[in-house]
Amino acid sequence: MPGGGVVAVTGTTDVNRVEAPVTVRAYLIVAFAAFGGIFFGYDTGWMGGVLAMPYFIRQYTGLDYPETTGLKGDALTAYTKAFVIPQWQQSLVTSILSAGTFFGAIIAGDLADFIGRRLTIILGCLIFTIGCILQTASTGLNVMVGGRLIAGFGVGFISSIVILYMSEIAPRKVRGAVVAGYQFCITIGILLANCVVYATQKRDDTGSYRIPIAVQFLWAIILGTGLALLPDSPRFFVRKGKLDKAAAALARVRGQPVDSDYIQDELAEIIANHEYEMSILPATTYLGSWAACFKGKISSPSSNARRTTLGIVMQMMQQLTGINFIFYFGTVFFKQLGTISDPFLISLVTTLVNVLSTPFSFVMVEKLGRRNLLVYGAALMVTFQFITAIIGATAGKPELDNQNATKAMIAFICLNIASFATTWGPCAWIVIGEIFPLTIRSRGVGLATASNWFWNCIIGVITPYLVADQPHSAKLGSHVFFMWGGLCCISFLFAYFFVPETKGLTLEQVDKMLEESTPRTSSKWKPHSTFAAEMHLAEKHIEVPVATTTEVHEPKHETV
Ligand code: BGC
Repeated sequence: MPGGGVVAVTGTTDVNRVEAPVTVRAYLIVAFAAFGGIFFGYDTGWMGGVLAMPYFIRQYTGLDYPETTGLKGDALTAYTKAFVIPQWQQSLVTSILSAGTFFGAIIAGDLADFIGRRLTIILGCLIFTIGCILQTASTGLNVMVGGRLIAGFGVGFISSIVILYMSEIAPRKVRGAVVAGYQFCITIGILLANCVVYATQKRDDTGSYRIPIAVQFLWAIILGTGLALLPDSPRFFVRKGKLDKAAAALARVRGQPVDSDYIQDELAEIIANHEYEMSILPATTYLGSWAACFKGKISSPSSNARRTTLGIVMQMMQQLTGINFIFYFGTVFFKQLGTISDPFLISLVTTLVNVLSTPFSFVMVEKLGRRNLLVYGAALMVTFQFITAIIGATAGKPELDNQNATKAMIAFICLNIASFATTWGPCAWIVIGEIFPLTIRSRGVGLATASNWFWNCIIGVITPYLVADQPHSAKLGSHVFFMWGGLCCISFLFAYFFVPETKGLTLEQVDKMLEESTPRTSSKWKPHSTFAAEMHLAEKHIEVPVATTTEVHEPKHETV
């Protein structure tokens, strides 16, 4: 509508018209945001490798390279063993990132309601860049720790708000697949970090660790610049009461003219749903709006308390599947098995399995649904982890030096990774983007993401003490897979009893489904009325001034 004007928005009573058809361009806009996953994956992936780099160790500890000491025999062996970054420093620089991301995710959830989803992500990129500058410049522990904390803060912003943004703008039919694309980017980020670290690890200059750190500037530039050109979430504008901007943003993300009937119907449904939510839980003070995340009875599937708990526990259980045990600690674990000589090769295999199996989830998540994938995925992980543990406790004992048993264990660990990558990896993110009502969505997603990073950190800190061959370690060895398998049993029960099916519904329909069904009956629930009809928006017009110049065409029909 060149020059501006007014569009009268009228809701629909037709449940099939609550989302506008989408063009290819619109799909591309949504898919771009998935790029945020690269930050997440890359940033968790590079530190482990850098900590083991000889140049980095020498710089941080002041110790000479073992081969230049002139020592021989046992003295050299003892010196080489001691030529490492002290354990407490390793723990500190690794886990400080998660501390930053934990707080970053919570604060970002808050901020995304004030300045918008898009600006929060761009701000996350800026903060991340400052953290990166400090890390790249660092030559000692203090600056590195400060840089990691700040960069982590930025990653917290990005990892939670990208999920929120994508879930709010993605068309319902591909929302799961698009968020699974974010998970795919996480896996690519981990792989890229492994490759870059491998390429620079032998350098005898600061480039060995500075190059892997500095590569990250690229991610920040691409995501930040790209998002600066994209529209914000129409749901954010509805929440703010800026209906003109909501209409313009919706028209852009759907690739439709702003005054098309489709845009009107979808916008009216979002407005009506928001009015409905506000009528149940009116906005109060700032603290009151945080308290709203925990309002209602936990026993009621649609209460805010239940949804917030669902999101937090969902991300906790994702971490307790033990996947990061393999990514953070796999190298050391495989070495302990005694038959593996090239640790990089093994970490490359595990990260490759992760990358290559994730795309299967794009289709599975829309065909089989989130709930099914979570239930079956947990069952598969229980099976594969228990088999790994049983082989490790019998034929695979290190003292037996049984190559075939070790190979079988690695095969089952890879099957376990593939099971995670196609189920809990993507679905945990998809579900947290879908279960919250608009009134608490950004905070809910922030809290759930913070839970992911919290447990991520706990696992990073405790696993060395569970498995490593160190004085204060529980020395579980491959028995640790009994523990992860046991925890996956809990994930299975959690998914079966508590996770609803959200496939194919608009975010507003998810709200209704949670009110009218239980997790176990949710997959049979069908939309039967619209919020616009319920809030009587189908009978009246809402005048929406059109702020942005948007081309007017005949309403477009679905082109994909
Ligand atoms: C998890 C990460 C994990 C990654 C592996 C993500 O969904 O949240 O902690 O490292 O998957 O692909």
